[in-house]
Amino acid sequence: MNNIIHVLIINGPNLNLLGTRETNIYGHETLSDLIENMKKQSKKDNISLYHIQSNSEHVLIDKIHSAKNKINYIVINPAAFTHTSIAIRDALIAVDIPFIEVHISNIFARESFRSHSWLSDISQGVISGLGLDGYYWALKTISNRLIHSYQNKSNKKF
Ligand code: DQA
Repeated sequence: MNNIIHVLIINGPNLNLLGTRETNIYGHETLSDLIENMKKQSKKDNISLYHIQSNSEHVLIDKIHSAKNKINYIVINPAAFTHTSIAIRDALIAVDIPFIEVHISNIFARESFRSHSWLSDISQGVISGLGLDGYYWALKTISNRLIHSYQNKSNKKF
């Protein structure tokens, strides 16, 4: 099975500070460690991984637009934009790429304003509160789903 899955990881504002930011909530691992480890994992799962982190909404929106017809799946931690950005929601709808929403912390167990997400209802699913493991679970889910769908397609030929 040689189908390579192209996955874009999107991290929103302040996640560049992972490892130093509110470590009681977000842990001690840095963003570059996370991405490096995810790249190792993704090779085993036949996934080609791309990553963007930005503190700027328009940069994230432009990146989502440019993913159209190139990326099979998105994993997005929109960070604070989760709770504010109809523009990111619209961009994800516009490109029609399936995505999984990830939060390091449990957004339902924090301040009430964090319980609302503009993305959850249009996502394939939400992982919240599993720490950085949430990103790896998202990748596993994608590889399981897409490998199965490719296998089903190739089975239909026979
Ligand atoms: C976060 C949760 C958001 O509420 C917060 O603004 C973040 C990170 C998380 O990963 O737990 O920046 O998305």
